[in-house]
Amino acid sequence: MFSSCLKGKTALILGASGLIGKELAIKLGNEGVKLVLHYNKSESSIKELVEYLNSRTYVDVVRCDLSNFDELLELISYIKAKYTNIDIFVNSAGVYDETPLQAINLDIIGKVLNINLISAMLISKEVGAMMYEGSGGVIINLICLTPLRSHKVYKCLNPSLPYVVSKAGLIQIIKYLADELAPKVRVIGIAPGWVGSNKLTPNLLRCVEDSVPINRVAEPTEIADLIIYLICSGTYINGTVVEISGGL
Ligand SMILES: NC(=O)c1ccc[n+]([C@@H]2O[C@H](COP(=O)([O-])OP(=O)(O)OC[C@H]3O[C@@H](n4cnc5c(N)ncnc54)[C@H](OP(=O)(O)O)[C@@H]3O)[C@@H](O)[C@H]2O)c1
Repeated sequence: MFSSCLKGKTALILGASGLIGKELAIKLGNEGVKLVLHYNKSESSIKELVEYLNSRTYVDVVRCDLSNFDELLELISYIKAKYTNIDIFVNSAGVYDETPLQAINLDIIGKVLNINLISAMLISKEVGAMMYEGSGGVIINLICLTPLRSHKVYKCLNPSLPYVVSKAGLIQIIKYLADELAPKVRVIGIAPGWVGSNKLTPNLLRCVEDSVPINRVAEPTEIADLIIYLICSGTYINGTVVEISGGL
């Protein structure tokens, strides 16, 4: 369906070993998009993905712990040296945190912000510059609903202050880069509600189903479809966050 838009494109997916990143990699790979897939710890997940994709498209795999800035700088150098253009950059890497307010300390703040925000800022800026100097592109960051509502929006969970701050900061990265890199590069955020029933315990799943107006979590494929829509069809969508939450 999107073959002509995606033809000849190269995509970098951070967090390709995760639920949403993996589904997106499969969809883009099936359309023949060349893939640079990032993971950190989930080696078996990325291996399984690469096995599936290898016969379908070009796949390059990169490992990087985004909390380690030396590894992050190495990753950025590698990408800049190997690729003249990245057309699509999706940041689906992130850590979730629920540390209660009274227990938050500098270590937790540093860990969550380094992975979810600082790394995202640096790599988005670098890949954005490659796109701007090259033939343009689209950058999509996975956010969540908390910066658009409050941290109570998820009802069945209690996201921590560092987590909420990290996601709020991503919105400013999106808006800043969208202004600076337009019109060659579009920069967009996606705010899912709940994704992936397999990840949730039966009790949590029941709570979520009761709290979401659509009465279910999203499947990862629905998030991946939205990302592809934003790349190929949503060509006037820029500098904003698109919600996909079942009405939460
Ligand atoms: N799932 C949801 O319900 C939901 C809702 C709202 C927003 N989101 C957002 O959507 C994004 C993707 O969610 P998901 O459900 O696909 O998450 P996921 O399955 O937990 O995957 C997270 C990804 O982030 C990577 N990652 C975690 N820590 C890392 C680190 N220190 N260095 C490098 N990579 C690291 C993981 O790599 P390894 O596993 O290889 O270590 C994995 O690929 C996240 O930003 C999340 O906040 C998800």
